[in-house]
Amino acid sequence: MESVTKHYANEESGISLTVNIGHLVNGNILESHVVLITGGAGGIGSAIARKCISQGAKVILADVDEKRLATVEAELGQNCRSIQCDLRDINGFDDMLKKATAYFGHIDCLINNAGVSLHEGDFMNVTEKTWDIQMDINLKATYFLTQSWLRYYRENHMKSGRIVMMASDTSGMGSSIPYGLAKAGVASLTHGLAKKLITEGIRINAMAPGTTLTPMTDDFTHGEVCRSSTQGKRALFPEEIAELCVFLLSDQSACVSGNVFGCSEANICFDNVQRELETNP
Ligand SMILES: NC(=O)c1ccc[n+]([C@@H]2O[C@H](COP(=O)([O-])OP(=O)(O)OC[C@H]3O[C@@H](n4cnc5c(N)ncnc54)[C@H](O)[C@@H]3O)[C@@H](O)[C@H]2O)c1
Repeated sequence: MESVTKHYANEESGISLTVNIGHLVNGNILESHVVLITGGAGGIGSAIARKCISQGAKVILADVDEKRLATVEAELGQNCRSIQCDLRDINGFDDMLKKATAYFGHIDCLINNAGVSLHEGDFMNVTEKTWDIQMDINLKATYFLTQSWLRYYRENHMKSGRIVMMASDTSGMGSSIPYGLAKAGVASLTHGLAKKLITEGIRINAMAPGTTLTPMTDDFTHGEVCRSSTQGKRALFPEEIAELCVFLLSDQSACVSGNVFGCSEANICFDNVQRELETNP
């Protein structure tokens, strides 16, 4: 995977910037690992899959979206397989893990990435229906898939495992909307489980991105990459989140467990973005 340089400009805010993404060169830091990625057909999930494969891993994508699954699987080739599933069906998790194991022999890395955000915007707009959907997919599925995977890990006498949870910058904002509350639960679960499982050889960390350019944010347009309202002056790219994920799966982060890594607009800017604030310094 090669580094890509992209240029963005937004006339309205007067911001232009140059972004380099894809710093991690192809390698083998995840060789022999098999990674199950929920929401693997989505923006961040597919970027994680791509990066994991570029580092020698094999991946299995689990997602409800059959069409996008087929597209991503076809693109990623023989080191990628997919399973179509609805993560609201928590009783199907043991079977899903069995099916996933049949592809590459084991699953030692679990990425609880699938999520939905219904953009209610305000406390008063929330209904029981939207509450349930967001809690079920963002938190309940994460909780019970992790439980199923741990059962699998123990039954197979595995000695080393890694879990990466997908929180959000909203999880640290005392958000009143179900999405943020569910993500706060994910962050809390990360801290709590990490302490329990480290002696079994399992490391658990979470990532908490800010606005990232994926289908979830409907935010593909050229100009919207630039954000005058954020300190970093831009939104994030899924590839950047994926690079952090690869680090958390690899032995390079062997001394790290139980952490929630904020990767929001406020702290992304200075190591990989050259900013040229033309009229709005
Ligand atoms: N994009 C952002 O700005 C942002 C910011 C912070 C956190 N996140 C989190 O990152 C994760 C990935 O989001 P994304 O931005 O790539 O969004 P996305 O919409 O591109 O991907 C989400 C994926 O989850 C899948 N999914 C949804 N419900 C499912 C279900 N019931 N069963 C199986 N799969 C299901 C979707 O089909 C989709 O492929 C989510 O957990 C999201 O909350 C995203």
